[in-house]
Amino acid sequence: METASRLLLAVCFTVMLCSGTGTATKFEEQFNVVWSSSNNILTYDDSKEVELSLTKAGGANFQSSDFYLYGAFSVKLKLIRGESAGTVTAFYLTSFGKNHDEIDFEFLGNETGEPYTLHTNLFVNGTGGREQRVKLWFDPTADFHTYTIIWNHYQILWLVDYIPIRFHRNLEHIYPGSYPHTRPMVASACLFDASEWATQDGTKPVKWEHAPFVVKYKNFAFDACAVLPDGSTPCNNNYRANWWEGLYYQMLDQQRRDQLMWVVSKWKIYDYCYDNKRYPKAPKEPLECQYNVPWVWE
Ligand SMILES: *[C@@H]1O[C@H](CO)[C@@H](O)[C@H](O)[C@H]1NC(C)=O
Ligand SMILES: *[C@@H]1O[C@H](CO)[C@@H](O)[C@H](O)[C@H]1NC(C)=O
Repeated sequence: METASRLLLAVCFTVMLCSGTGTATKFEEQFNVVWSSSNNILTYDDSKEVELSLTKAGGANFQSSDFYLYGAFSVKLKLIRGESAGTVTAFYLTSFGKNHDEIDFEFLGNETGEPYTLHTNLFVNGTGGREQRVKLWFDPTADFHTYTIIWNHYQILWLVDYIPIRFHRNLEHIYPGSYPHTRPMVASACLFDASEWATQDGTKPVKWEHAPFVVKYKNFAFDACAVLPDGSTPCNNNYRANWWEGLYYQMLDQQRRDQLMWVVSKWKIYDYCYDNKRYPKAPKEPLECQYNVPWVWE
């Protein structure tokens, strides 16, 4: 506790002040605080841990100072213990502006004793509507687990403890506007009040008497192509040399296909590809859906 540095909003808007002091692993050198009420972001550089809390005054959001175009993004997360209805904890990549791209992990809280839902989504060129939801096969509030986004020239993989829970192939050549491939993104984390929609269709709002709600992130690992200040991405010139672009990450081998089948058949509770109310021609359309199922491969 004594190593906790309490980040105040005022301090963190002056990022220049924060960086430049201390070692390369300091929170302030890797991230900017986007918003936070009072001391809702606590950082522990020694354990590489960041603690976000949600109180009636608000939640918290921080993001990488670097923008990336492709890479592997990993974090360990320990979700809110006990009551968490109405809260959403997120780890995601996002660009900015009107036609933005975004790759999401969102953890939807629940009432005491009820399971969290892991919600994933993808926005391309400003269009989302690609939600999937799974239940987790462990208690995500008891321990840290690893959540990873691999985003390369071939596909996006969402992994939980290195098990793929979803993939999305790059089909830009046949279906333009379906794959993020031009806009650099920041890696971001936040905790916020989503009472209107998060839990049991919005019927279970945040119960403030249980605040503060606390979530722990640690060991952020971004192996990714950072965009330089002049806008160039030298690491993409020879992108095949990056490990996250390797053959293993261009497809799914039999083992990971089996794992994904297990997740899909046993843990998946919602998939936009099968939502005929929203997409009357599902599962044939959206077109991309036919290509993003583990039993169809080349
Ligand atoms: C991106 O969205 C804009 C409208 O916001 C549209 O004009 C453009 O064609 C879209 N690009 C692709 C590749 O779909
Ligand atoms: C919360 O728990 C209920 C009851 O077990 C479940 O139906 C629901 O999917 C869970 N998750 C969310 C986010 O509501």
